[in-house]
Amino acid sequence: MLRGKRELYLVECERDSMREACKFNAQLMDFIRPHVKAGVLTSEIDSLVSEYTLDHHHRPACLGYQGFPKSCCTSVNEVVCHGIPGDYEIQDGDIVNVDITSIVNGWLGDQSETFLIGNVSDEARSVTQCALDSMYLAIDALTPGCRVAEIGRAIISEANKYGYGVVREYVGHGIGRRFHQEPSIPHYPNRQAHIDRIHPGMCFTVEPMINLGTRETVLDRGDGWTVRTKDGLISAQFEHTILMTEDGTEILTMTMGGPKPGHRF
Ligand code: MF3
Ligand code: CO
Ligand code: CO
Repeated sequence: MLRGKRELYLVECERDSMREACKFNAQLMDFIRPHVKAGVLTSEIDSLVSEYTLDHHHRPACLGYQGFPKSCCTSVNEVVCHGIPGDYEIQDGDIVNVDITSIVNGWLGDQSETFLIGNVSDEARSVTQCALDSMYLAIDALTPGCRVAEIGRAIISEANKYGYGVVREYVGHGIGRRFHQEPSIPHYPNRQAHIDRIHPGMCFTVEPMINLGTRETVLDRGDGWTVRTKDGLISAQFEHTILMTEDGTEILTMTMGGPKPGHRF
C-alpha cells in the first residue's frame, strides 16, 4: 500500500527541501528555548513562534490546521498534547512541552521538546527522561527497509522499565508537503506497524508521549483540542522529524541547544 505512493519517497532535491524546513524549525526551537520559564504566559511563547516564523517569511503549520487557533502547541503537566497557548502562566515545578511545526517553501518540519521549569519533582524528571530516551532508542533501532514496529518496540520496552504508560490515541506520522500523511507511526507495535516498512526517501516523525500513570487520555470537550491524561498525572513528549536514507536515519530537526542523545535531566 505504501509502496505505490510516489509522494512518500523523496528524491535528493526533495530531501534537501525537507532538510531546510527542519533546519529552520530547529533554529526556531533554539530561539524559543530561553523563553520557556516561570512567569511567562503560554500565549507569549506562541507570539514569539509566530513572529520569528513570519520574520523569516515562513508559516506556522499549526495556525488554522483543522481549525487550530494558535501557531504552536503548549502542553503543561497532565496535558499530553495539543495544548492551546493562552493565559496560563508557567510555574516553577511545571513540565512544559512546546511543539512547533513550520512550513518552509511548502515543506514541513515538526518537533517538540519538554522543558523542566525550575525545581521539578523526581517523577517529572524521570518521565521526561524516559520520553527523551525512548525517542532516541526508537530512532536508533531503524535501518533502511525496517518495519515501523521497531519504533513501538523500542519505546514500549523503555517505558516498561519504569512502569510508565505509552499513549496510543496519538501517533507519529509521515510528513512532507503535508502535515500528517502515511505511514502512521504508533509508539507501540500494532498490526499495521508490523506490515509497513520504512524505505529510503521516507520522512516521518517519532514523538512518544509517556505518562507517569495510565496510558489513557481524555479530550477536552470544551476546546476540542487539549488532550489530558485520564488520571491527571503528568505526561512528557519529545519529537523529531526523521529522514530514512540508503545509509540509515538522519535526524532533520536536531537543535544546537536542545537535549542530545544520552542527555541526563
Ligand atoms: N505538531 C503536532 C504533531 O506532532 C500536531 C499539532 S496539530 C495542531 O503532529 F493543530 F494541534 F497544531
Ligand atoms: Co508530529
Ligand atoms: Co509536532
